[in-house]
Amino acid sequence: MKKDFITIHDLSTYEFSEWLDLTEKMKKNPNKYRKVLKDKILAMIFQKPSLRTRMTFEVGMLQLGGEAVYLAPSDIQMGSREGVRDIGKNLERWVDGIMIRTFGHNIILELAESTTLPVINALTDLLHPCQALADFFTLREKKGHLAGLKLAYVGDGNNVCHSLMLAAAKAGTKMAVATPPGYEPKPEIVAWAREDGRDTGFELTITNDPFEAVREADAVYTDVWASMGQEAEKEARKKIFLPYQVNEELFSRAKPGAYFMHCLPAHRGEEVTDAVIDSPNSVVYDQAENRLHVQKVIMMLLMGKK
Ligand code: CP
Ligand code: NVA
Repeated sequence: MKKDFITIHDLSTYEFSEWLDLTEKMKKNPNKYRKVLKDKILAMIFQKPSLRTRMTFEVGMLQLGGEAVYLAPSDIQMGSREGVRDIGKNLERWVDGIMIRTFGHNIILELAESTTLPVINALTDLLHPCQALADFFTLREKKGHLAGLKLAYVGDGNNVCHSLMLAAAKAGTKMAVATPPGYEPKPEIVAWAREDGRDTGFELTITNDPFEAVREADAVYTDVWASMGQEAEKEARKKIFLPYQVNEELFSRAKPGAYFMHCLPAHRGEEVTDAVIDSPNSVVYDQAENRLHVQKVIMMLLMGKK
């Protein structure tokens, strides 16, 4: 078992589906797992705001018999009041695992390297792996399988897009990404995805045409146009991304019965219209619920008895 969960790229294809299988089992029979993290404590470092991630990690720890301690950005002032390494070395003396939501991906790598504790990625500027696992679990629940499906991602080639590509590569799901020119996913993540998906049936199309991306898609996914930390670009991005809004017209070009997906929070009227996110095809709250089930499995595997 790995010490940390930082990226889906680090999982084998087998582990990826094993984690989803375990999630299915735990979701069906939560009582069986009520004590697997008895007396264990998770430190939750947040350098950015959160609803879903905080709730699901904290509630998840309670449901597994442990506890979680929330560390707000202003509490520890990572990097200014104290360096990353010293924070890792201190936490090691008190708790059993660390969950971190931060900015630069190098911060989580430094933290994981500095401590013997398991470190879980709860979002960096580069990746959001817990989200993508929950999303693929949701898609598998709805469709019964993942291989051969087509997922269209329309919007910013950001952390969520990156982790979805890595999940699609492991799952053998076809993926089409449509972004405005200059906002494509990072080439190094695209390279990881292509490497991981070489033998799984994964196919990847990257385009600037949202209509091309959604054609024949089983699910259409979007995320905010300006991520946390990009607030200064918000107004400029609104103009650039408008042709990529998931509205009824664009969504109607996907397969009939296609699902609408979003990691949330959504900026209604920007990347998605009310008509789409509130439609019967929208599974956004199932995705949010499944964050809980997937993360309970991750915590059990990394923090429980080996
Ligand atoms: N999707 C997600 O990570 O939501 P929060 O930012 O509210 O945690
Ligand atoms: N891309 C978004 C995801 C929020 C869950 C962000 O990083 O702000």
